[in-house]
Amino acid sequence: MPCLKFYCLKETMKILGIETSCDETAAAIVENGYTLHSSIIASQIAKHAAYGGVIPELAAREHLGCIDQVIKQAVKDAKMKLNEIDAIAVTQGPGLIPALLVGNAYAKSLSFSLQKPLIGVNHFLGHIYASFLDSGAELAQDAKNYPVMALVVSGGHTALILIEANGEAKLLGQTLDDAAGEAFDKAAKLLGLGYPGGPIIQKLGALGDKSKYHFPRSFTPSAGKKLRDEDQLMFSFSGVKTALLYHVQKFPQPLCDALLYDTIASYQEAIIDVLTYKTFLAAQKFNARSIVVCGGVACNGPLRERFTQLCPKDIKLYLARPVNCTDNAVMIAGLAYHQMLRGEVMDIKADVYAKLPMLSQFPLEVRHV
Ligand code: KG4
Ligand code: ZN
Repeated sequence: MPCLKFYCLKETMKILGIETSCDETAAAIVENGYTLHSSIIASQIAKHAAYGGVIPELAAREHLGCIDQVIKQAVKDAKMKLNEIDAIAVTQGPGLIPALLVGNAYAKSLSFSLQKPLIGVNHFLGHIYASFLDSGAELAQDAKNYPVMALVVSGGHTALILIEANGEAKLLGQTLDDAAGEAFDKAAKLLGLGYPGGPIIQKLGALGDKSKYHFPRSFTPSAGKKLRDEDQLMFSFSGVKTALLYHVQKFPQPLCDALLYDTIASYQEAIIDVLTYKTFLAAQKFNARSIVVCGGVACNGPLRERFTQLCPKDIKLYLARPVNCTDNAVMIAGLAYHQMLRGEVMDIKADVYAKLPMLSQFPLEVRHV
């Protein structure tokens, strides 16, 4: 087995990123962490829509069917040849194991056959990196932006993480049950609106009155209970989902349009209130100089507006472009560059992982502090 640990760092590193953690097969080529050469995303949404959620084995089969084509297209779009790539990056986890295995098996064989280093990227940190990438290095390189408070809101995660200028990272709070994206997806399923729920809820919510009904904002002062210190930055979205079920059952079925739109708008509002309240609370507690909002739910228009409206003037707000909020391989190839600078290559025998591991570092080069 060749030892790819001793690779040569060139001035220009073009990294191929591969992402297969859930229901998108994605490949991208990014140079030196910031310059995008190509990005391909093949979505399987239509395949999973019938089930109202992602079926892991179906996702794996779909990845298998198109990964080769997706990668070849990314290389072609970048006007490159496969052997001109300097390293291969792949999402190692967290995610659905059968889906991750497809991307990892492909990445490992490519790394072995091309004799290029392999970098395993944490998908959760990749989402955060999307905002760094979209800021064009401004966020990473200006010490005045630290500490950074990142809210990761996706289908799999809702978490607050603090990043210091020296790269130290601390998970401050996360959801005890469903992620915010799941709360959108499950609501849409319950209302028979399709999958994924977030974009549908945003669209129909715009037609309703967000103050018509009150849905619970768990673990916030508005829930009426005094919060324990350790719960201040925790999230829970199972209560709001159950409240929606009970609310819907009170009315004749199917709900008339006006009632449906008001329900959706009010439900979305409850989730936005919780996400913004907790993030600003955390930012204030830890004296954050900037806020990052990332992950699929960060595409939500009313959520973006609320963050923009409420963000104090002395805190910078970084919202990744919507195309980089949902799953993509740009964030994987981009973050991998910084891992390479730190010598973090992946052993070809390394396993994928389903759950978020303990986090202590956000792998970026040393800031100008
Ligand atoms: O980051 P992502 O693509 O995949 C995961 O890593 O989970 O996030 C997918 C989630 C889904 O739950 C989807 O409903 C949600 O992001 N989402 C949205 C919007 N677009 C996608 N949620 C609210 N509003 C949106 N516009
Ligand atoms: Zn994701």
